Amino acid sequence: MSESTPAAGPEAASVTATPASRFAIGAEQFELDGEPVRILSGALHYFRVHPDLWRDRIRKAREMGLNTIETYVAWNAHAPHEDEFDLSGGLDLGRFLDDVAAEGMHAIVRPGPYICAEWDNGGLPSWLFTSGTVGVRRDEPQYLAAVQRYLEQLAPVLVPRQIDNGGPIILVQIENEYGAYGSDPVYLEKLVAMNRGIGLTVPFTTVDQPTDEMLANGSLPSLHKTGSFGSRSAERLATLREHQPTGPLMCSEFWDGWFDFWGAHHHTTSTAQSAADLDELLALGASVNIYMFHGGTNFGFTNGANDKGVYQPIVTSYDYDAPLDEAGFPTSKYWAFREVLAKYNPSIPDARPSAAPSAPAFRVPLTASLPLDAATNLLGEWVTSDELPTMDALGLFRGFALYRTEIDTTVSSASASALPPVLELGEVRDRAIVRLNGVTLGVLARDHHDRRIALPAGARGTLDILVEDQGRVDYGPRIGEPKGLIGPACLNGEPLHRWTVLPLALDDLSAVTDALAATTASVAASVAGALAGPLAGPAFGYASFDVDPGADLYLDTRDWGKGAVWVNGFNLGRYWSRGPQHTLIVPAPVLRPTGNTLVVLELHAAAPTASFVASPDLGHTDF
Ligand code: GLA
Repeated sequence: MSESTPAAGPEAASVTATPASRFAIGAEQFELDGEPVRILSGALHYFRVHPDLWRDRIRKAREMGLNTIETYVAWNAHAPHEDEFDLSGGLDLGRFLDDVAAEGMHAIVRPGPYICAEWDNGGLPSWLFTSGTVGVRRDEPQYLAAVQRYLEQLAPVLVPRQIDNGGPIILVQIENEYGAYGSDPVYLEKLVAMNRGIGLTVPFTTVDQPTDEMLANGSLPSLHKTGSFGSRSAERLATLREHQPTGPLMCSEFWDGWFDFWGAHHHTTSTAQSAADLDELLALGASVNIYMFHGGTNFGFTNGANDKGVYQPIVTSYDYDAPLDEAGFPTSKYWAFREVLAKYNPSIPDARPSAAPSAPAFRVPLTASLPLDAATNLLGEWVTSDELPTMDALGLFRGFALYRTEIDTTVSSASASALPPVLELGEVRDRAIVRLNGVTLGVLARDHHDRRIALPAGARGTLDILVEDQGRVDYGPRIGEPKGLIGPACLNGEPLHRWTVLPLALDDLSAVTDALAATTASVAASVAGALAGPLAGPAFGYASFDVDPGADLYLDTRDWGKGAVWVNGFNLGRYWSRGPQHTLIVPAPVLRPTGNTLVVLELHAAAPTASFVASPDLGHTDF
């Protein structure tokens, strides 16, 4: 099709949302108040973007030519514990949907309950699994009771914001690529009934990869089936059409990039090819949700992981090589997609977002440090347990736990041999730093299938094992598995008992920050100084800095080992010298003009400087 040829299929909906409209799935097209419309949607996860930036990102989607924003709802983000449901700040889904409406756009909501999305546990709360008896993603009463509560908690947010109530929501998705996981139509029917039961009236869809088996297992005759794919649209739509004989065809996840694992390369896709693929899809008359329009960031400890034989945790950035980059600026893909979308959307605005500026580049010294061993009294309560507990058993669902026990191999049967004793664990989830009397002996890494480590001959004293949950698997049967050390723990075959465990309370780092700031103040009064040398982990380091307001920063982590960073108490996420990612984004809204605090938890060793650079470094690609 040439640039000037009229597009196949219906014209895009006007970008002005009309109060109390009716959105329906017609015999051939989506219909808004009886008129055919094409959905031109882009995925944008509110939980991966600072709330003060939502409006900016949504506006830029409109300016690219989209008329709809799609978001998942991350159940576990809202419900970190069974008795909590948080809709505040960055989890204020109502505000996000109101921002969508204020930009004159429609919304598609995918409340899961399972979302995949490279998100910790695929969005399922870890507390669901602690009894060990719940059966997720199928017709199982405990699971469905929890889902019912979750949907009831979402109802006040979603129901009044449906299009027939004057809000932006036009579609709701049931489950997520269910055909890739299970085949339980009774479960799907119950989910539909629950979603209707809370007052959702808009049409419901499902999404599946376009294979006969997945499309057949992932949906119900009453649900509108859509596909997930990023190329070969004609073939994929033909398969979809066999399973969805009437109504509009839609690619609900048009993959325009991909996510990255630690230790692998940064994924990018060809702009020209992606734009051509989008054009092919739209020329065939289909509706689309571009996955992702803007990926954002796995702030804190929210990243998921894959495990298809080897555990692969996902990096902090969710840039996704999307049209709008992680910092919210247009890429070449943005402009190429805009050109394609302009052919199909007569109401595309003239306004265009500006290009990314250079971020301020500067370095500040770390001025204080606090060994983890000296900070334990600031990080929560120790728990004692005769048997080795998982993190989950202690109510810790993200982050780190410090396991401690006393050993004396000079009196155990291990001493019968002059050989060094060996510590053996059932499994490590996911990475354990083993220390004896404050001296690091080594690391046991799940992705290496490590389970054993030799201790020095005659080892005796305090054995510390600092364990990191590197992100829960988000796809496949390992969803919901407990984290931490999985027993038994044995020393030369003899079980180790009497553990004390400190689940590290890192959600609120103010006590650690205050302690570091106080050290800085007292040192500064005498020597005015930076740390005398590198930061030896596990330890916290501290810096403070001033910055002109308004700009994001990129923290360069190349000279640091592995850990996590907080700026003004906001957890930027994990860093790792392993890459591919070597910068962490600091969103402008978390910064203030003076007295910003930076706290780093370094597990291994770090240069004593915080270095900010002009642009992101998401690492090497495979080209
Ligand atoms: C599938 C899932 C999404 C996401 C993508 C890959 O399509 O539905 O949640 O995991 O794969 O990014």
